Amino acid sequence: MCGIVGFTGAQSAAPILLEGLKKLEYRGYDSAGIAVMDERKIAVHKVTGRIANLCEKTQDGLGVTGMTGIGHTRWATHGAPTEENAHPHLSNDGKFAVVHNGIIENYLSLREELIHDGYHFESETDTEVIVHLIEMFYRGNVREALIRTTNRLRGSYALGVICSEEPGKIYAVREASPLILGIGIGENYFASDVTALVNHTRNVIYLEDGEFAELSSESIKIFDCSGQAVDRRPTRILWDVQAAEKGGYEHFMLKEIMEQPGAVKATIAPRIRNGRVAFEELGLSAEELQGIRKIIITACGSAYYAGCSGKYAIEKLCRIPVEVELASEIRYSDPIIDEHTLLIVISQSGETADTIAALKECKARGAKTLAIVNVVGSSVAKLADYTIYTWAGPEIAVATTKGYTTQVAVLYMLAVYIAERLGKIEGKEKQLIRALQDLPRRIQQAFDLNSSIPALAKKYHASKSIFFIGRNTDYAVALEGALKLKEISYLHAEAYAAGELKHGTIALIEEHQPVVALCCNPSIMEKTLSNIVEVKSRGAEVLALTFRNNQKILSVADDFLFIPDVDSLFSAIVEIVPLQLLAYYVARENGCDIDKPKNLAKSVTVE
Ligand code: F6R
Repeated sequence: MCGIVGFTGAQSAAPILLEGLKKLEYRGYDSAGIAVMDERKIAVHKVTGRIANLCEKTQDGLGVTGMTGIGHTRWATHGAPTEENAHPHLSNDGKFAVVHNGIIENYLSLREELIHDGYHFESETDTEVIVHLIEMFYRGNVREALIRTTNRLRGSYALGVICSEEPGKIYAVREASPLILGIGIGENYFASDVTALVNHTRNVIYLEDGEFAELSSESIKIFDCSGQAVDRRPTRILWDVQAAEKGGYEHFMLKEIMEQPGAVKATIAPRIRNGRVAFEELGLSAEELQGIRKIIITACGSAYYAGCSGKYAIEKLCRIPVEVELASEIRYSDPIIDEHTLLIVISQSGETADTIAALKECKARGAKTLAIVNVVGSSVAKLADYTIYTWAGPEIAVATTKGYTTQVAVLYMLAVYIAERLGKIEGKEKQLIRALQDLPRRIQQAFDLNSSIPALAKKYHASKSIFFIGRNTDYAVALEGALKLKEISYLHAEAYAAGELKHGTIALIEEHQPVVALCCNPSIMEKTLSNIVEVKSRGAEVLALTFRNNQKILSVADDFLFIPDVDSLFSAIVEIVPLQLLAYYVARENGCDIDKPKNLAKSVTVE
C-alpha cells in the first residue's frame, strides 16, 4: 500500500518528508520520491527500492532546499516499480506535483482523452491522469482545479498536491483512502497514517471522504466538494507507534482480514466496464480462447486452495475442464500439456520457487501462461505471457488472507470473462456481474454476522485436533480454513471432502471431537447434513458454517458461523472470512506469534 506525507513550515521540508516516509516503510513499497518547492520551483527526486536510496540521493534531504513538500512510497499497481512510475508526478507545465494512494478506475479513458488534448505522459501509472487534469482545470485557483479534477475521477484516492504558484501551501484530498492532517506549531503535515505524524504532533484531523484540505504553516482549511468550509475538531492521538502501524489492530493479520472488502473491491471494480469484465492485461483473442481445451491451475499453499475454489466457477461457467495441481508436484510429473492448454499460475509474492519452476516447465511444453500475482514486477509476473494483478496491497502477516481472497476474486472474474467471450452465459451476464460487484459488501456482512467468534475460540482453542468437512465449493474453502488454523494456532486441523468421511476418517471421530462443517452450497446441503448427523451420532461437537436462516442445519449443529446470502458459485470468497477469524482468535487464545508463525516465511524462495 502506498504511503503519503506532506509538510509545510519554517524548516527544511526534505528531511521531515524522508523521516515520515521511513515511518511508513512497514506498509510495503518498491519505490519512493519527494517533491519540494523552493520559491516558485518544484524539484522532484525519485528512486526505486529503499528509502535509504532516496536519502543517499538527497544527502538525507540536506541537498534539497525548500520548506514545503510532499512525499510518497509506492507499491506498484499500474506499471512496474521504475523511477518513471514512482511518485510524485509532475504536470507538463511543471507547476503541479501530485502523490496518490489508491486506484483510479477510469484512468484509461481519461488518459486517452488527455493524450488527445495534447498532454504528454511520462509514466504508465493511473495517477498521472490526475496531475494533467489539475493542469487542465487550473485557472489561477487550486481549490477549484482540485474540485473539478475529482469530479472526473472514479475510484479511491488520497492525494497530496503542491502548486508552484502557491508557495507554502500543500493540498490534501481524500476519497476512500485514508489521509490524516497533523497540526503543529508554525507547521502542518499530512500523512496516510499517524505513524508518520506522531514524532511531530499528536493533534490530528481525520479527513473524511469527499473532503479537501489546504494547509499552510499557520492554518488548515477544510472544504467539501462544493468548496464550502467544513468545521472539524482535532483528535488527540493516544496510540503508541507500534499500534499505529497496525491501524489500531493488535496484529497485521487482523488488519489485513478487515481490509478484505476494500482489497476485493480494488481488484474487481476497476475491471467491470460497461457491464462486462474487462481484462486489458489478457491479450488472448476470441479465437485463442476458443482453442483452449484444458486449463491447469498451479500454485502452492493457500494460492493452490484459491485455485481449488476457482476451478468450480470456471468449469461451471465455461465448461472447460480445469485441473488444479500443486506446483511442487506438477514440475516433476511430466504433465500433459500443449498449445491448447491455458496454464494459470497463482502467487501472492510472485517469488515462490516451486511456482516459478512449474511455470517454466509448463511454458516450455507449449502452454499459454497467465499469472495471477499481487507483487508487480515479480518473477512470476515477468515470466508469464499475461499477468493479472490482484491489487490487494502489501500483505505483512505471514498467513495470507487478503492475498487469498483477491486471488479467488480474479478467478471468478476470469470465469465470467472467458464464459462471456465463448458465448456460454448468454442472458446471465448482468446477474453474474452484479454478483461480482456485490462481493465486497457480502464480505463486510460476514464480519457483522460473526461477533461470537472470540467466544467460540475460547471454547475450541484447547482442542487437540479439528476436522473441517464440506462438499464441492465448501470443500475447497475447508482446505484453506484448516490451513489457516494449523499455521497460526499450531492446532492439528485437517479438511476432508464430507463424502469421504466414511471411507476411513470417521474412525477418528469420538466424543467431543470438534468438526467444522461447511454447509453453504444449497445444491448439496442435504448430503452435508447427513454427514453432520453421522459425526454427531459419534459424539462430535459440530461448528457449522452456514446461512443464518438455514433451519435444518441450525437444528442439528452445536455452534455456528454465519455467512450472508450469496450466490453459491461465488460463496467461497465470503465463507473463508469467518474461518480466518476463527483461526485468528484461536491462535490469540493460545498466545501464538500470529503475524510470524514459527517455521514459516512470507515468501518461499527455495524448493
Ligand atoms: C498460507 C500461505 C502460503 C502461501 C504459499 C504460496 O497462509 O501464505 O501457503 O499461500 O506459500 O505463496 P505465494 O502466493 O506467495 O506464491
